[in-house]
Amino acid sequence: MTLRVAILISGSGSNMMALAESMVGDHPARPCLVISDVPRVAGFAKAESLDIPTICVNRRLYENRAEFEAKLLETLSYYLPDIICLAGFMRILSPNFVEQWEGRLLNIHPSLLPLYTGLNTHARAIEAGDAYAGCTVHEVTAALDGGPILGQERVPVQSDDTPETLAARILPLEHKLYPEVLRRVADNDRRIIHRP
Ligand code: GRF
Repeated sequence: MTLRVAILISGSGSNMMALAESMVGDHPARPCLVISDVPRVAGFAKAESLDIPTICVNRRLYENRAEFEAKLLETLSYYLPDIICLAGFMRILSPNFVEQWEGRLLNIHPSLLPLYTGLNTHARAIEAGDAYAGCTVHEVTAALDGGPILGQERVPVQSDDTPETLAARILPLEHKLYPEVLRRVADNDRRIIHRP
């Protein structure tokens, strides 16, 4: 049975593309839908270039998070995904949403979790004088960026790094790691990928 993967984005969608382009050949999953919470994101044109349906559930049109998430769940219910990948999706999902998808909801976060949950991760790693920075793919639970870790990649922080240069070195690792983890999850193999 082919697994169906919905990918949620808020912007450029480069991780979404890496995921979508990996689901070919004998891969057990295929992308079934890309949702953005922001209209006219660059990621939509990319998804459409691969013939993946795109839907905007515009957060601004809903009074509160509960109404927004109800629409999100309704939209998902039409496409029957087995797995949801958050890929640069900039909304925090409520425990109610997360619990319905627990174990089947993945996220990529641009830090070596448990360090630096939330925003501005690269700046915080530089400020702290960390030797390494990186990215993490994890299961999403009600704890912000706190679910079980499924894979990590890291790079040395250089003395002249800015948040931008560090982000630019980490992003290609995200594009490698996320598809690898998704493949393992689709294969029902949740061993942690960790490359020192
Ligand atoms: C990535 O760095 C991801 O880790 C973070 O937001 C960025 C999204 O980039 N959560 P893109 O939309 O996948 O290009």
